[in-house]
Amino acid sequence: MRKFGVIGVGHVGVTVAYTLVTKGIADELVLIDKNEKLAVAEQLDLQDCQARLDTTTKIKVQDYSELKDADVLFVTAGNIHALDNNSGNRWVEFEYTREIVKDIAPKIAKSGFNGVLVDTMNPCDAIAQYLQKEAGFTSEQCLATGTFLDTARMQRVVAEQFGTNSKNVGGYVLGEHGESQFVAWSTVTVNNHPLKEYAKAKGKELDLNDLEDEIRHGGWAIHSGKGYTSFGIGTCAVKLAQSVISDAQLECPVSTYNKKYDTYLGQPAVVGKGGVQYVNELHLTDEEEAKFKNSANTIKEKFATMYE
Ligand code: 2OP
Repeated sequence: MRKFGVIGVGHVGVTVAYTLVTKGIADELVLIDKNEKLAVAEQLDLQDCQARLDTTTKIKVQDYSELKDADVLFVTAGNIHALDNNSGNRWVEFEYTREIVKDIAPKIAKSGFNGVLVDTMNPCDAIAQYLQKEAGFTSEQCLATGTFLDTARMQRVVAEQFGTNSKNVGGYVLGEHGESQFVAWSTVTVNNHPLKEYAKAKGKELDLNDLEDEIRHGGWAIHSGKGYTSFGIGTCAVKLAQSVISDAQLECPVSTYNKKYDTYLGQPAVVGKGGVQYVNELHLTDEEEAKFKNSANTIKEKFATMYE
């Protein structure tokens, strides 16, 4: 029995729910939202898919006690749309999202849930850490999509340069899912060749600063057109959940606790049964290591203000 919960069925939560149902990933799904009418409407709409699907998902609503035996809980309650955040900075959402976490964390704890939490709420890194502490889970159990999404954007942007598929691009965007993130260019590969060598062989001159700006602002480019982002982030969240339930041990950059800098931030980790199984050692250039440290400190300083 593969059971999932989604708290917050806005654009991201409902994308996650739709993916779980239509891809036949969930046997049971629990939808929870502060707007009960919305949760019930989404339940009905998803139930209307069932007669046309080859798989079946039992969908329940508004019952925290149903989370007790869930494998993965998506926490997707932050509502960027409600905030109309056009600032280009996810920290604008932090007070708003913190209040949501204050409300839901005790309810999650009380439900007896003991699976893996996947947070997508912004500012993603600090909120995941806050949620982990407030709901009383281990840092292995509570992770956030972090720079997994920015890494997908990097794969798209780099792939476009070479007319290849984004799946053929490797490497990481690291640090904050926010303005202090950076592309660890030394890790980037195309068709398994180091980026710089590959570009040279293809006679391609790349402006890495321009590419990095495009990647960093990827979310805002979408946001300015549709007012929110949903498909990219939803797909990242579901991919992590799949790795958890099948213990696939996917190695990818997610937001998890970093002992050295004492903060959550995007770093390569192996995700499987139980959540983050281990953090992978990074081999960065000195310049990249400094950027990683800077991003960690940026999150840490702001996280400290969560308790003010
Ligand atoms: C994103 O990057 C806005 O954090 C959201 O898609």
